[in-house]
Amino acid sequence: MPESREWLIQWLRDAHAMEEQAETMLSGQLSRIESYPELGERIRSHLEETKEQAMRLKTCLDALGEGSSMLKDALGKLTATAQSLSGVFAGDEVMKGSLASYTFEHMEIASYSILIAAANAAGEAEIARLCEQNLREEEAMAEWLKNNLPQVTMQFLTRADVDSDSAKR
Ligand SMILES: [Fe+2]
Repeated sequence: MPESREWLIQWLRDAHAMEEQAETMLSGQLSRIESYPELGERIRSHLEETKEQAMRLKTCLDALGEGSSMLKDALGKLTATAQSLSGVFAGDEVMKGSLASYTFEHMEIASYSILIAAANAAGEAEIARLCEQNLREEEAMAEWLKNNLPQVTMQFLTRADVDSDSAKR
């Protein structure tokens, strides 16, 4: 099926651009959440995973002879930089960032579910395997966020109280 191979290549490229965007977004968040150590630690480890995921996708594209065709990525990266900067003075950037992360993880989960099916349809078992590895890491991150967002919210609200009290004095 030559057609499904073409789609696979295109979607792998899209996923690579997505991971580059994730990398920029996560680094941007890290620089602004020093007061949330658990969240910071999880984001730092997912940032490392994200870099690995981008490399796995590069491996997949190399295997298909398409490793050097990733020029489009640059655009995605610029957009992500703009997004990561836009929340700087919002005050609740940790909550905005958490919202964005949770949403982004689910987009990644959908992307890898699609890629695994497309890789299998193209008879590319090794590519399917690498995408499954990425999928599991995204699912773990989404699950962590789901379980920890209430606590991050409470931390934020407590801090917001302290900040407004000290402002009144
Ligand atoms: Fe992710």
